[in-house]
Amino acid sequence: MTLIIKEIDNKIRQEHSVIVPTMGSLHDGHKSLIEFAKKTNKKVIVSIFVNEKQFNDQNDFKNYPRNEQKDLEILSDLEVDYVFLPENDYIYPFNEFENITSGIVGSTYEGHFRPGHFDGVLTVVKRLFDLVNPDVAVFGKKDAQQLFLIKNMIQNYKMNIEIIEAPTVRSSSGLALSSRNNLLDDNSLEIASSINKILKLVSENIKSGKEILQSLNIGIQEFENNNHIELEYLDIVNSQNFSNDIQSSSNLLLIFAGYINGLRLIDNLEILL
Ligand code: PAF
Repeated sequence: MTLIIKEIDNKIRQEHSVIVPTMGSLHDGHKSLIEFAKKTNKKVIVSIFVNEKQFNDQNDFKNYPRNEQKDLEILSDLEVDYVFLPENDYIYPFNEFENITSGIVGSTYEGHFRPGHFDGVLTVVKRLFDLVNPDVAVFGKKDAQQLFLIKNMIQNYKMNIEIIEAPTVRSSSGLALSSRNNLLDDNSLEIASSINKILKLVSENIKSGKEILQSLNIGIQEFENNNHIELEYLDIVNSQNFSNDIQSSSNLLLIFAGYINGLRLIDNLEILL
């Protein structure tokens, strides 16, 4: 049976648990995170909290898709143990939580275009970890920079939490699933399917021996030729440290952000050489 809880009591804190933090509006990508969580055979706690601190734009926060009733049905069908639905004051009690700063990596790419975003993400994730005391947490690889920074925070704070990194789930057109996709009409969904195609093109060029920067530029050109996608960035980072120091690395990550009809989407592709 799935229990809906607003607060975490000592019993839950002492259980062997795995947390799947979410902002709700659940889709198949979340279902996959939950499947990974269930395989740990620990108590599965799914949190739903639209964290205002990680939105640098009030409109984006206001318009973020919310669908609590449907989320609760999905979670009960998946037989998770707990749905944690905290109030803002419980997550952020006056003066009783730590504001985390995400450092240099937190101010590049997503952090550059969404100032303060990762400070907000790390602050809420640390708070959820402190409240729930999980053994394991599951995050998706779609938010690659977020995942990198969370792993970094766990190391810095010497937290004893294992992170499961779940692969990105895509629709049949290749589009990475995201709660924000709910805000795309059919035409925009069709346009969005080119994102993954262009990422794959860059990756295939690199794997077949074409120079990395040349391959990247081909991808940038493809986006620029597409009148319906407004490219914010397309870049290749070293996935070990999220820096541009890619010469010595065989683990590259191609990262993308852009707008379709005013809606911001991100995606990435690992390139293992
Ligand atoms: O990836 C998300 O949905 C959010 O950034 C997270 C990790 C739940 C923190 O609010």
